[in-house]
Amino acid sequence: MKKVAKAAALMLATVMMTASLTACGSKPDTTQANDAAVSGQPQKTEESTVVEKQNETDTQKATPEAETTLTFGTNAEFPPFEYVASSGVIDQYDGIDMAIAKNIAEANGMTAVVENMEFDSLLVALQNGQIDAAIAGMTVTEDRKEEADFSTPYYTATQVMIVKEDSDITSAADMADKKICVIQGYTGEICVKDLGYPYEAFKKGTDAIMELVNGKCDVVVIDSATAEKYVFDNQGLKIVEDASAFESEEYAIAVKKGNTELLDKINKAIETMLADGTVAELGAQYIEAISAE
Ligand code: ARG
Repeated sequence: MKKVAKAAALMLATVMMTASLTACGSKPDTTQANDAAVSGQPQKTEESTVVEKQNETDTQKATPEAETTLTFGTNAEFPPFEYVASSGVIDQYDGIDMAIAKNIAEANGMTAVVENMEFDSLLVALQNGQIDAAIAGMTVTEDRKEEADFSTPYYTATQVMIVKEDSDITSAADMADKKICVIQGYTGEICVKDLGYPYEAFKKGTDAIMELVNGKCDVVVIDSATAEKYVFDNQGLKIVEDASAFESEEYAIAVKKGNTELLDKINKAIETMLADGTVAELGAQYIEAISAE
């Protein structure tokens, strides 16, 4: 299983170098430059800031009290990116995204708070101000870009097919006469819809996997790293890839449209984490944990 971790780490490390694509044959996206990643910003010490501010005015507070928390919306049904654990990096929430969220908040002197909700509700929650940012293994797509602004991507994934070990499905075209399961609102659903095949949509990945395990469906289409986790957890399943049918996808953090102040903060933190290897390490660590359970 080491191979899986290595491959994932490599994917994370190369995400900035690959042209960014959206799922299922849609137009290539423009890649954002990674120029802020290494530019060392001069860091004032807390002490010097306090002294300066006191000199400005004695009555003013040294540090603003507002904005001390950064609320991330997620859907904690997507291991290894976000899932509920007995103890996680942010409360009970654990996973690669949760560790990234915590890092972003801390890099900005804030505390990360998580609001767990349905995947489909995340962009609405951003729009109505219930959350500051959405981090949920969320693929950047042209449609979603109309509803939210996206950060620098931090992970490259692809859709794969999970089938029973004895399945005769070897390509996406083989799904034509099979019973297909997807997860509601995920890019996997969009891909299958684009291919023109009928399917059944489930609220959770684990529900779709249960259908497959119980022989009620023939194939589940879902993101690669999450598929690895489900195949590891359930006997008798395997992954089938088809790069010609499923393009690479990039995960990024969404903020409310126009919230450039927060987007800049998030991008600086992500770019630093990509440049110094933090994201790759987190990926390897959590993906390795799947096979070590
Ligand atoms: N990458 C897929 C998408 O953006 C699935 C993401 C699911 N994430 C989750 N936290 N449930 O649609």
